[in-house]
Amino acid sequence: MEGVVTDSRIRLDYRNAMASAVGDAHGLTEAQLEAIAPKAAHEIERIWAEHAAGDQKWIDLPDNKQLVADIDAFADENRSKYDDFILIGIGGSSLGAISAIQALAHPYRNLLPTRQRGGPRFFVLDNPDPEKVSATLATVDLSKTLVNVVTKSGQTAETMANFLVAKDALETAVGKKQARSQIVATTDPESGLLRKLADQEGYRTFPVPPGVDGRQTVLSAVGMLPAAMCGVDIGGMLEGAAAMRERCKSTDIFENAAALFAAIAYLSDTTNGKAMLVMMPYADALFGIADWFRQLWAESLGKRLGTDGKEVFAGQTPIKALGAIDQHSQIQLYTEGPNDKLLCLTGVEHYRAEVRIDGVPAGIPDLEYLDGAELGTLLDRERLATAWALTEAKRPNLTLTIPTIDAGIVGEFYFMHEFQTVVAGGLYGVNPFGQPGVEAGKNATYALMGRAGYEDLKATLLAAPEGPSYTV
Ligand code: PA5
Repeated sequence: MEGVVTDSRIRLDYRNAMASAVGDAHGLTEAQLEAIAPKAAHEIERIWAEHAAGDQKWIDLPDNKQLVADIDAFADENRSKYDDFILIGIGGSSLGAISAIQALAHPYRNLLPTRQRGGPRFFVLDNPDPEKVSATLATVDLSKTLVNVVTKSGQTAETMANFLVAKDALETAVGKKQARSQIVATTDPESGLLRKLADQEGYRTFPVPPGVDGRQTVLSAVGMLPAAMCGVDIGGMLEGAAAMRERCKSTDIFENAAALFAAIAYLSDTTNGKAMLVMMPYADALFGIADWFRQLWAESLGKRLGTDGKEVFAGQTPIKALGAIDQHSQIQLYTEGPNDKLLCLTGVEHYRAEVRIDGVPAGIPDLEYLDGAELGTLLDRERLATAWALTEAKRPNLTLTIPTIDAGIVGEFYFMHEFQTVVAGGLYGVNPFGQPGVEAGKNATYALMGRAGYEDLKATLLAAPEGPSYTV
């Protein structure tokens, strides 16, 4: 597993997270990084050894060329058939698709004329919010709507409830038989309630890969089918992910950006009290990836028990922010409030549009600095200025730099952050897979909604507490 540096294009600059930039109390020393390097190398070796033994199955997702071909064929056949596409799923079953489409499709795609859009409008039903669900179903043309219900477990209450509502609306609009042809289910190939229903009704299905947690399924049909329906180059995403995967084979953290990010975040949290990690891209298109990362980092590392069974209450709270907007909302807090955060800014060398600022009126010398400048230059200088101001205030910060936003880079981000998360899990000594804290809430919801088999839990939940009410 010697260090192979490939054509991966994401660069991690960590100098502002070092003690030399922000002082000993807030930054890391070279000695700390050197000391953690063998431990991180051990985690990297362990991950690859487990993968070689048939585990860590998420690592294989970039190789599924047949799935890309199947999805592209499906999307080619259906893009022009439908005016609207509704993704029904939540958490790991929706955030990946949303982030890919936000990064790689036109920002106002739904408002474009049909021909220019090149596929159906895209809607998401994640929250079972009656106002949004009814508004969505009233907005789409149900006779020309494809519904993609996505759930790994096949039983998540929010998803199944939204799906049943949408299915009913479809059946009312087009009849039962036609409705069946307008539903695609992405779920476990063998088990779960949705799998049973899909088999019973004869829905077209795509698999959620077994052995992969929901938050790591973006590079499967979960993320790729909706993305392909919106014209995203899903093959390019997998190529980018595969390039980053090569880089993640290096056991030298100074060549392996994912592992280095994990080591810096872990050390900043556990030795310097940086209990929060702010992800702040300077591109609207990347904000969805920060949101997707938020789930990945939170659900994977936020664990009560360590792998040794002892209570550790591990985790670093991920926060999403957007440059430059949050310079006018959050940066005051990040710069002068509690020094409890590590920040990660993302800079884009070439934005996909160039917009020149012209027409600065004469006689206003203080606006002349904008004359002839590019908006992209302004946005990127704001990033540099923020990194400088944070560093001056002794706030440790990292910068990820990318040449531009394209399918390959988006795939690289997914793989890098997933690998980083699994390495961080090892450093924290927790299992980054599974989400027992989420399951507890899911079960309580089933109980409160009266699902059969949850009667005892319901009784416990509804047992009236003794003493005065604390409701005002
Ligand atoms: O990462 C996970 O596995 C979870 O966050 C799930 O994605 C989320 O709870 C939705 O679950 P499901 O896909 O089973 O509906």
